[in-house]
Amino acid sequence: MKDWWKNSVVYQIYPRSFKDSNGDGFGDLPGVMEKLDYLKELGIDVIWLSPVFDSPQDDNGYDISDYRKIYERFGTNEDMEQLFAEAHQRGIKVVLDLVVNHTSDEHAWFVESRKSKDGEYSDYYIWKDAKPDGSEPNNWGSSFCGSAWEYCPERDQYYLHFYSRKQPDLNWENDKVRKEIYDLMRFWMDKGADGWRMDVIASISKDQGYPDYPEEPGRKYYTGKYHSNGPRLHEFIQEMNQEVLSRYDCMTVGEAPGSTPEVAQLFTDPARKELNMIFTFEHMNIDRIPGSVNRKWALKPFSLVELKRVMTDWQMKLSGRGWNALYFENHDQPRVISRWGNDTVYRKECAKAFATVLHGMQGTPYVYQGEEIGMTNAHFELDEYEDIEVRNAYQELVVKTGSISEEDFRAAVWYKSRDNGRTPMQWDDSEHGGFTTGTPWFKMNDRYKEINVKEALADPDSCFYYYKKLIQLRHEEPLLTEGNYHLILAEDEKIFAYLRSTETETWLVAANLSEEVIPIDALVNAVAETETGFDGNADCRWEFMISNYERQNLKQALRPYEAFMVRI
Ligand code: NOJ
Repeated sequence: MKDWWKNSVVYQIYPRSFKDSNGDGFGDLPGVMEKLDYLKELGIDVIWLSPVFDSPQDDNGYDISDYRKIYERFGTNEDMEQLFAEAHQRGIKVVLDLVVNHTSDEHAWFVESRKSKDGEYSDYYIWKDAKPDGSEPNNWGSSFCGSAWEYCPERDQYYLHFYSRKQPDLNWENDKVRKEIYDLMRFWMDKGADGWRMDVIASISKDQGYPDYPEEPGRKYYTGKYHSNGPRLHEFIQEMNQEVLSRYDCMTVGEAPGSTPEVAQLFTDPARKELNMIFTFEHMNIDRIPGSVNRKWALKPFSLVELKRVMTDWQMKLSGRGWNALYFENHDQPRVISRWGNDTVYRKECAKAFATVLHGMQGTPYVYQGEEIGMTNAHFELDEYEDIEVRNAYQELVVKTGSISEEDFRAAVWYKSRDNGRTPMQWDDSEHGGFTTGTPWFKMNDRYKEINVKEALADPDSCFYYYKKLIQLRHEEPLLTEGNYHLILAEDEKIFAYLRSTETETWLVAANLSEEVIPIDALVNAVAETETGFDGNADCRWEFMISNYERQNLKQALRPYEAFMVRI
């Protein structure tokens, strides 16, 4: 089917934390194969695998040293081909992670590039001379804190790295680099890959003037507009589309920090022949103080009104002009119920409520491993965190500059560190949650005895079966793919509600995203004020397509984290 990705649901696997098959404590491809029937049962259409290629693992595989070789601890190239085959047998597609803004500094290209200024690979990366005083070429910062430039004595020059110093940025201005990338894409697509999730793809084109950011007091390095959406970005993506993507029946999703819905239109308008969809960060940034030196660790209280405003803006602006990638969780985000909801008394209701509002929207929904069983954030000691982002930020912000106290930093890490989503998958209540028979590479979340797949599969009322039903609805109900979106109760601080409609039908999607019992009148009246033909009679028996509490009509108050979809 053309555009099959529009009514698909994607399941993201973070391979090192998904399932270990050989007892080394590290998830692997045979482990993924063991769980394909589980994913089939859930009903998802596509798996997105975070990077599985050879890598020193400085940033958990987002630092690739050989694009054509599977990292040993994940398995072999043959395992990858077998995984393609086994997934395809079950009607599941497999999308790989394309990390080509940068490579590892251990990639053969970089090993050569750093040797001299006039070798074959010298221009594969971004090398610049120091400023006259010997300092970095400009004040660009790394997303992992500190300068984005690292000095290399062999060349007496600096190289650019938007992430860790072990992740040098590739020079996309060099035709040879782009050709190498297109070749490696074809290499995996010819073996069976069904598409790509493209890591920080909005950063591949850089302003060739390499200008400094304007200075602010108390700050040395900056990240911002020069870090994404550079002048040749769309030209490069169009070229990639022409050279590679257009030749395969594939799916693409670009990770695009710093993008607005207007930028998303450029990426995803089918007429422009670029990508199918992009991941925005706008809704993920609503609980951070903009522009703070403490970056993502500078927390601001969650506002449902703001979340609705941002998500609605994306729904409206991409409708008919592009396509949305819908997500609350991935390997870079904490668990949504711990972040913006309730992960204790109302854990299951809350997980289902967030799932309802997400899967009711227009776009392709993404489920991150463990989200379907309502996994929660983990609270570890600071020295137990594995993520380079946490470790670097601690050194820079707590130890070196003292811009945030250790206490506030710990609170922020518990609330939103990436490691919250990276604890091993909780399969059952046995030791290490059934993830491994060995010692897990990273601590288990200590709630695994209570929250695990075995428990979820045994409980007909679990989050798992709720997700299964949502996914089934996406397959069976064209309205969810095609219908228009119309937000109601925009200013309500507790209710997230909207209508989806086609020429023939209208659905109400609603969730009480609070612990309170709320009278339903405001919701009923808001629907009556729209052009749905509904006369406000709350007695009438609408068709409930899915709900997380028992409910027959719209008279009863909304219970804590109650959510439903009804056909009007
Ligand atoms: C985005 C990835 O999702 C993240 O995990 C990684 O650290 C950066 N890009 C750098 O590759």
